[in-house]
Amino acid sequence: MERTADRMSRESGSSSPRILLGVTGGIGAYKSPELVRRLVERGAEVQVVMTRGAGQFVTATTLQAVSSRRVRDDLWDAGAEAAMGHIELARWADLVVVAPATAHFMGSFAGGLAGDLLSTLCLATTAPVVLVPAMNRVMWEHAAVQANRAVLEGRGVRLLGPVEGDQACGEHGMGRMMEPVEIARELLEGRVVAGRLEPQRLKGVKAVITAGPTREPIDPVRYITNRSSGKMGYAIAEAARDAGADVVLVSGPVSLRVPGGVRRVDVETAEQMYGAVHREIHDTELFIACAAVSDYRPHRASARKIKRSDEEIKVDLVRSKDTLSSVAALAHRPFCVGFAAETEDLDRHARDKLANKGLDMIAANRVGPDCGFDAETNALKVFWPGGEAEFGERAKSVLARQLVELVAERYHAARETPRTSLLAG
Ligand SMILES: Cc1cc2nc3c(=O)[nH]c(=O)nc-3n(C[C@H](O)[C@H](O)[C@H](O)COP(=O)(O)O)c2cc1C
Repeated sequence: MERTADRMSRESGSSSPRILLGVTGGIGAYKSPELVRRLVERGAEVQVVMTRGAGQFVTATTLQAVSSRRVRDDLWDAGAEAAMGHIELARWADLVVVAPATAHFMGSFAGGLAGDLLSTLCLATTAPVVLVPAMNRVMWEHAAVQANRAVLEGRGVRLLGPVEGDQACGEHGMGRMMEPVEIARELLEGRVVAGRLEPQRLKGVKAVITAGPTREPIDPVRYITNRSSGKMGYAIAEAARDAGADVVLVSGPVSLRVPGGVRRVDVETAEQMYGAVHREIHDTELFIACAAVSDYRPHRASARKIKRSDEEIKVDLVRSKDTLSSVAALAHRPFCVGFAAETEDLDRHARDKLANKGLDMIAANRVGPDCGFDAETNALKVFWPGGEAEFGERAKSVLARQLVELVAERYHAARETPRTSLLAG
């Protein structure tokens, strides 16, 4: 953030991110010394603050040895307060990370309570706060914990994980803490820190992003759909939000959590997607069409369930409305980014779609039995008039941030070359 960047250059001239690592009383605290090491080896300065509960799982001596800094664990420690008071600590941090974050800590933070040093710091800092929750899967799914999660995300707190896997309590499910190496990578390479230190490239830009599949009814119980999970579109929505955009996510039916601070509009059919996008588009500056919209729909959906009687039945299909082309054809249109999912001839199909639909950019990915839909990773080739870029296989969250960065660059380049089709800003 600008405040942080200013202070960093004003003071030591060092560009090492200063991370205040909060450790709370979950079993995952045994991984915290490892996390400190991973952050330090990537050039961060780490100050550990632990709760009383954390002291049941990991010692201050260990955390002090790996961070080379005195661990803070008491709001009422007069000596430590005289050296660097809790408000100074809150100001020192470029980023606050709480790993593991217990259900108890999430509840206090969501409720605005300041009962110990760590929760007081979290309220007193203007640095971004990232939580890495870890708990038993039933605790994680509890309505109270999920309500606290939603409150925190709505306030811009970023969550990493939890992930699915074997748990210390002997169960298997969602609630495990992300591995330290992944947390460090996500924080420092995934631009949680770096991205915050750079100006937000899409600050104040309204972006409409579509995601997920559509369902085209055949009868009241059956429909035509596709394998899209929505993961790529949701990751793009999150990345665009982090880049400062005001994001509206028009989503087909998926079972994904809406990223905090993003407004989701739910739709089911291609027709509804068309309607929802056009209701939002008049003041939109950036449109990213990532949804896998059904190209065809049954001509007439049967009002009654079709019975198993004839040996063969016919379902007549007609072309669905093309949302992306219709937006790109508007007189005052936003910067338009399309997606192409292809099984063969990726480059040719993508370039044809770019030209035929009159898009500003297109991101193409190969789909098949072992790649693309519903996977955690993806690879993209991006084309625009006069240029192209390639991103090899990587996590969809990382890919989304890199794509959004490229989109922001092209978006600003297009605005510098005024065109009637872009909204004046
Ligand atoms: C053996 C043991 C393991 C625990 N593991 C977790 C955990 O993984 N996640 C969690 O939210 N709470 C866990 N708890 C409960 C917390 O320790 C408890 O809620 C405590 O009040 C948390 O305090 P703190 O958030 O201030 O550190 C565990 C408790 C025990 C006894």
